Amino acid sequence: MPEPVISLTDVRREFPAQPPVRALDGVTLRVDRGDYLAIAGPSGSGKSTLLNVLGLLDRPSSGSYRLDGTETTTLRDGARTRLRGERIGFVFQSFHLLSHRSVVENVMLAEIYRSRGARRERAQPTSSEAAATISTAGQARGGRRERALAALDRVGLGHRTGFSPGRLSGGERQRTAIARALMGGPSLLLCDEPTGNLDSRNTEAVLDLFDELRAHGLTIVVITHEHEVSERAERRVRITDGVLVEE
Ligand SMILES: Nc1ncnc2c1ncn2[C@@H]1O[C@H](COP(=O)(O)OP(=O)(O)OP(=O)(O)O)[C@@H](O)[C@H]1O
Ligand SMILES: [Mg+2]
Repeated sequence: MPEPVISLTDVRREFPAQPPVRALDGVTLRVDRGDYLAIAGPSGSGKSTLLNVLGLLDRPSSGSYRLDGTETTTLRDGARTRLRGERIGFVFQSFHLLSHRSVVENVMLAEIYRSRGARRERAQPTSSEAAATISTAGQARGGRRERALAALDRVGLGHRTGFSPGRLSGGERQRTAIARALMGGPSLLLCDEPTGNLDSRNTEAVLDLFDELRAHGLTIVVITHEHEVSERAERRVRITDGVLVEE
């Protein structure tokens, strides 16, 4: 039996407050390679908290999280950052693209922020950071542009690599963000309302892309409140007050 990509056992996450917030309350979840899981639940139920834990952006207060067979809760920060960079890609509702950089440069930036252990909040770098990192991109980072171009090909944007994001459609922007998430060859794609800013036609295009990526072995976890999206997943779970239930 192969190791699951995700194995959560009795995961709790409490935030200090008066009274404490129990954002995840004994969550147990197994996700196998190539699975496509949709997570639904009301606002404030713990969906983003769960995604942050799965993405190694946050640690559970208690419980076990094995990612590709590695127990993550006892790892030091550096090892967690490395594991995140190697295994996990993130896609959010807002695309976090730098408007003054081309599509391919935006995708290239993934490797830089990943290697620096950028947290989700830093997904949008300042322009001076971006300029500094782009200017060093040619040195000692051989193949980064080629890898970015290959990722863009994979999402069907090979013809838009030199565009600025402002000239892309919403769906193309999200596909650029997905290409960025694919840099580094993750085994797990974590998405928080990835189609929340898209019309139904562009939503369809992103969902088609998810199907294709999954057919190539990627594991996809999507938080969504849209029927259209959860219908396309093979498995659905619901969180209510931090408690996860399989549908
Ligand atoms: N850093 C924090 N400190 C204290 N409470 C927090 C913190 N982060 C989240 N919470 C609380 O934990 C609960 C779950 O939050 P979470 O962001 O996971 O909800 P969600 O399901 O993603 O909601 P939404 O659909 O609105 O995005 C909420 O009650 C929230 O107020
Ligand atoms: Mg949320």
